[in-house]
Amino acid sequence: MLSSKRILLIIGGGIAAYKSLDLIRRLRERGAAVTPVLTRAAEEFVTPLSVSALASEKVYGDLFDLTAEAEMGHIQLSRSADLIVVAPATADLMGKMAGGLANDLASTLLMATDTPVLCAPAMNVRMWEHPATRRNLKQLQADGVCFVGPNEGDMACGEYGPGRMSEPLEIVAAVEAQFAAGPLVGKRVLVTSGPTHEPIDPVRYIANRSSGAQGSAVAQALAELGAEVIFVTGPADVPPPSGVQVVPVETAQQMSDAVDAALPVDAGVFAAAVADWRVASASDKKLKKSRDGLPVLEFAENPDILKRVSRMENGRPPLVVGFAAETDDVIEHATAKRLRKGCDWIVANDVSPATGIMGGSENAVILISDSGAEEWPRMGKAEVARRLASRIADALAG
Ligand code: CTP
Repeated sequence: MLSSKRILLIIGGGIAAYKSLDLIRRLRERGAAVTPVLTRAAEEFVTPLSVSALASEKVYGDLFDLTAEAEMGHIQLSRSADLIVVAPATADLMGKMAGGLANDLASTLLMATDTPVLCAPAMNVRMWEHPATRRNLKQLQADGVCFVGPNEGDMACGEYGPGRMSEPLEIVAAVEAQFAAGPLVGKRVLVTSGPTHEPIDPVRYIANRSSGAQGSAVAQALAELGAEVIFVTGPADVPPPSGVQVVPVETAQQMSDAVDAALPVDAGVFAAAVADWRVASASDKKLKKSRDGLPVLEFAENPDILKRVSRMENGRPPLVVGFAAETDDVIEHATAKRLRKGCDWIVANDVSPATGIMGGSENAVILISDSGAEEWPRMGKAEVARRLASRIADALAG
């Protein structure tokens, strides 16, 4: 619940501004007071009247509005909130924030504030992927700005890809996470999860049996302790948890790119079952049966994401946790794997069919660190996740 929380909602000028009207309602339903600020461009998409009616508050928009300045100066406005939410955060607003510009009320408030800021970006996919936006995003994350979304999907401009603003309830979950009390508040944690799918041709792929259940449970447990969680997931059987930023991917290469885009983080938990190989030249047409015999697939090695991140000279997360699914000599193999990959901890488990762990609801893990191997009793995957999250919280605190 958000009762007695005061949210300053800055609405940028993008088509997604219509979702911000619903966002106001959802925030107010949960007890928050919403003070809306519209940029000039936002007024082209939603009217101050509808925003004001939904918020039951005056709408601010003009930096040089003498009446507003007399009632509540822009400095006071920027500091009176418990949280500033920028939704939609357009490429322009993100650029202004990253560059420290203050030439209208919204950007001036964002410069003048000492209140936490949560951005929900929304823009065309090319704009989102533009190097300038990538730079601005990294800068803002380094400045401590939090993000929710964007999601991937059909866009109002007719293109498809990442750039859609998160849905109002996803933004509400991110707002609630900002107020969550817990040892991981203010920490940003990356979790990879699920299998990857490596295409053979447009209709076939190589995959593995990972359900994504353990990775999903870890992400949820971390979010419950207050962490901002970026959840990079392959095509899993279980739905992603709520209250985390979901980045869906299919292949190992996409997962690797998404991990890079998520950095910097305070901790990385690599629970994904990443395919070690991909088909070197996946066909763009469906392979047909042929009289010439069976097709021959050549493989190429996928990036080892855990190893690459563990060995980064710049930007290595302070805590890197890998998983090891083994079928024999679990401690010996997982201990060697920790050294080979260069991560801090390995969560090892025995996935031989007799254990019923792969695809099941329980897990029996061994936490391997530089102080040795610690065997945990067999328990539900959610319980394993809660224990691990609490150990991560201890490690980041210490
Ligand atoms: N991992 C990764 N990228 C890869 C392969 C694995 O990030 N391309 C991560 C997994 O998410 C997991 C850890 O590495 O945290 C161990 O995965 P595993 O497949 O057991 O490691 P491998 O190096 O492939 O070892 P093995 O020889 O046992 O297959």
